[in-house]
Amino acid sequence: MNLKETKITIVGGGSTWTPGILKAMTRYKESLSFKEIVLYDINEERQRHIGEFGKLLFNELCPDVKFEYTTDKELAYKNADYIFCQMRTGGYKMRELDEKIPLEEGVIGQETCGAGGFAYGLRSLRDMIEMVEDVRKYSKDAWILNYTNPAAIVAYGLTKKFKEDKRILNICDQPINMLMSIGKILGVDEQSLEPSYFGLNHFGWFTGLYNKDGQDLLPELKEKILQKGFSPKDAEQRDKSWLDTYALVEDMVRDFPEYVPSTYVQYYLYPEYKTKKLDPKYTRANEVINGREKRVFEECDNAVKAGTTLGSNVVHNDAHGEMIVEIADTIHNNKEKTYIVMVENNGIVSNLPKDAIVEVACVLGNRGPIPFHVGEIDVFYKGLLENQYGYERLTVEAFFEGSYTKALQALTLNRTIVDAKKARRILDRLIKANKAYWPELK
Ligand code: G6P
Ligand code: MN
Repeated sequence: MNLKETKITIVGGGSTWTPGILKAMTRYKESLSFKEIVLYDINEERQRHIGEFGKLLFNELCPDVKFEYTTDKELAYKNADYIFCQMRTGGYKMRELDEKIPLEEGVIGQETCGAGGFAYGLRSLRDMIEMVEDVRKYSKDAWILNYTNPAAIVAYGLTKKFKEDKRILNICDQPINMLMSIGKILGVDEQSLEPSYFGLNHFGWFTGLYNKDGQDLLPELKEKILQKGFSPKDAEQRDKSWLDTYALVEDMVRDFPEYVPSTYVQYYLYPEYKTKKLDPKYTRANEVINGREKRVFEECDNAVKAGTTLGSNVVHNDAHGEMIVEIADTIHNNKEKTYIVMVENNGIVSNLPKDAIVEVACVLGNRGPIPFHVGEIDVFYKGLLENQYGYERLTVEAFFEGSYTKALQALTLNRTIVDAKKARRILDRLIKANKAYWPELK
């Protein structure tokens, strides 16, 4: 076990996901040997609720750990070993607009896919670049583990900007969320499954699921999905919109029976159907604002009032918190476990561009992710992914160059939009809505 004492900083300390990360951390105190935890956020008031909960939690479970929350960058980033990042530039208010503006124009409005993801991407890039620069000023060797969305755009942009920096790892919990659900459907512990997977973030497929005997359980999984449908492991705790989203995995397996796709592929395969199902007056952002956001802050406050976190069920979905902490532990202790994470392609998928950021199975240790080779993918997947790669790249180039034309090209290329006149209408509305966050597009 690596006994070096560590400092871990969570960027976006006021996030609704932070309590889950903190709870997971208490289970890794010995193996991550942390002595100091800092929450950092630009929103002091929001972070206070989570910060007070965290203080109590660590006081109860790991009293020898120094726990702080701050809006001071130096305090947050100085001598840090691991940065867990999950910021949301513009908050849920801007997520709401990302979802509603495209829907009002008759196309998919979603947090990370289509025009919504594009808008969010242009917001995230500025703050994410600033975060990396700030962290590197104070801690040049810290591992930056990043969940910030839209992860595909953020990862591509950061990789272009910080070419030599090998300690930024972009991750997403959807593959592990799916694996947990898959484990339940198959009646096996998902930890015993070694997945093969390829794609871009929020746009990928499971191509194999090997058990300890080397047997591929993917054919059995597809059979079961076709017989009984697909529902998430934690279905009881999921809101209706997510249950609908998971249910469509069955449709995708029926239409394209080769592999099992990520839930997010549905926005690209069934854009018309999905758009009709989504309500421009009440989107996922509203569901979150009225649900998780209220609940998490209330439950944090209640625990603080009660003077104990024991018995508090502030955390429902564990996968998100568990994954980032487990990844830090895997790196810290060089455990060489397999995770599906984002890396620069460089030939992993041999017929996709070298600089695409692919999401694939990697062995992870203290040298970072070592990807498994995928090889050539078939024309259907290549077509879809090349298209999405073009969209992602143009989005990032529009950001760096301040180019309106590239922004319009990006949106036109996106499968959820296609029509250039529609793309222009949406772009112009998004520019107005994002004035405070985007670079000027000329
Ligand atoms: C999954 C994805 C994340 C996304 C989240 C949205 O976990 O991997 O990238 O942010 O879902 O969840 P929400 O409950 O906020 O809609
Ligand atoms: Mn994700």
